Amino acid sequence: MIDLRRLLESRLFTAFAALDPDADPVLRPSDRADFQANGALALAKRLGRKPREVAEEVCSHLDLEGICSLVEVSGPGFINLFLDPQFLAAELARAATEGLGVPPEGSPLRVVVDYSHPNVAKEMHVGHLRTTIIGDALCRILTYCGHEVIRENHIGDWGTPFGMLIEHLLDIGESEAAQELSVGDLTSFYRQARISFDADEEFKERSRRRVVLLQSGDEETLRLWRVLVAESVGYFNEVYRKLGVTLTDSDIVGESFYNADLPPLVEELRQKRLLVESDGALCVFPPGFVARDEAPLPLIVQKSDGGFGYAATDLAAIRDRVGRLKADLILYVVGAPQEQHLAMCFAVAKMAGWLDDGVIADHVAFGSVLGADHKMLKTRAGESIKLVSLLDEAILRAQAALAERSSDLGEQERAAVARAIGIGAVKYADLSTERTRDYVFDWDRMLAFEGNTGPYLQYAHARICSIFRRSGAARPAAREARLDTPQERELAVALLGLPEAIRATVRDRSPNRLCAYLFEVATIFTTFYEQCPVLRAESEERREDRLLLCSLTAAVLATGLGLLGIEAPERM
Ligand code: ARG
Repeated sequence: MIDLRRLLESRLFTAFAALDPDADPVLRPSDRADFQANGALALAKRLGRKPREVAEEVCSHLDLEGICSLVEVSGPGFINLFLDPQFLAAELARAATEGLGVPPEGSPLRVVVDYSHPNVAKEMHVGHLRTTIIGDALCRILTYCGHEVIRENHIGDWGTPFGMLIEHLLDIGESEAAQELSVGDLTSFYRQARISFDADEEFKERSRRRVVLLQSGDEETLRLWRVLVAESVGYFNEVYRKLGVTLTDSDIVGESFYNADLPPLVEELRQKRLLVESDGALCVFPPGFVARDEAPLPLIVQKSDGGFGYAATDLAAIRDRVGRLKADLILYVVGAPQEQHLAMCFAVAKMAGWLDDGVIADHVAFGSVLGADHKMLKTRAGESIKLVSLLDEAILRAQAALAERSSDLGEQERAAVARAIGIGAVKYADLSTERTRDYVFDWDRMLAFEGNTGPYLQYAHARICSIFRRSGAARPAAREARLDTPQERELAVALLGLPEAIRATVRDRSPNRLCAYLFEVATIFTTFYEQCPVLRAESEERREDRLLLCSLTAAVLATGLGLLGIEAPERM
């Protein structure tokens, strides 16, 4: 569909460029018009001229023929833009025929998205919830814009804890262990292993030997390791299914994937003279990273015992994503606490020439999920909350909320809708927060049918579907609707704002931009629906015009929610 905002921006740029090629038109939504351009003010200051005069001159270069019905200079030098209703109607008709597709800005990119990345034999916690939800929404949105998306689930599947995990698996028996892991008793499995490790010298010694066997590629040890990985991944998949995310087994590129790359990687760093030995460990000191005492900070590539750490795998991953996958953009959807680690990895990758100016690596950081006490979300016993129990509770609460509303849903549909509402509520509460901010996990707020919530948007969508269902009215064919009332006009302009909302989401890498847009559309639709009779419109013609606005609103809401990974049931 047309990107209204981009169209206006490009016309304005051209007009401003007649006065100054670097001028920014500063296009904004407006209370008095459909849009306003405020750029003449700053430009006048720079040119030492009167702002109104500059605005007038810009307008004389401005070609908005067939797009705007009126362009006027107001106040100190704002340029007010009034869109031509016929233009709006034609673009809506086009969206109705051609669909809501959004072309990419510039040429399509190959984007690697590193997200979810839980750890084998460890429970997924709310931090994993955030990366999984945000990452998945970004993947869907980037794909929608025509980019090529490669999902990488960089699971934690390697490292010294696997010695003790394998020994624990042997102690309790393979089938027992598989059972515990597959049903998601990951915490107790890990904890038991840890307890034995700390309490039992003999177990500790066995675990150490097991690590050596694992690293040297012993077949039987690898087989046991694979059991741990497979059972955990099976469990992760169950969580993904419940959550409705798009990750599959083929997206798993765990830390172990890079094992063979690590020795040559260290060798390459050595040849490039980037390695420094520090306390027996091999490190790189990227410039600009210092500790509190101003001492330069090392990125430890190989530990003094010869083992490779988290940093080495991350370096190997960058090298692989650029070298083998030919990524143009790499997004790391990882919690804010890892900011310095990733920044150092990116810096070292640049020093080594694995990352150059042609590739962007970006940390898509996110804040924490807090409990009502504004501390990290925990159970009452102070333990971290199991992700599945959280999701199950969401569904139960949605069932209860649904039961309170009279509805004619059959039992099966009701269960499906409760699932959509519960999971949607959790996802939306997360995605609608600017991602770097912490947010308070609040059941009542996220499940409310009013306010900026998932259920509110789902309900707005279902309500429109019910207009068609109740009246038996067919979804209207594309037509050039008359937009006589201010509410119709406002809704039309809002609907054509989808591409801009998607662009802003990609630009900020924060789905809250799309959420805010959808909430705005739903709110504007409510006013329209209150003020403009649809089924009882004054004429058959007007009824069809308004039904078209209804059906496009439903399409925008369903598409937007879909891009966030949230279902939009037709009945609620
Ligand atoms: N597995 C890690 C964790 O659960 C996160 C990995 C993040 N991704 C990365 N490329 N470092 O904390």
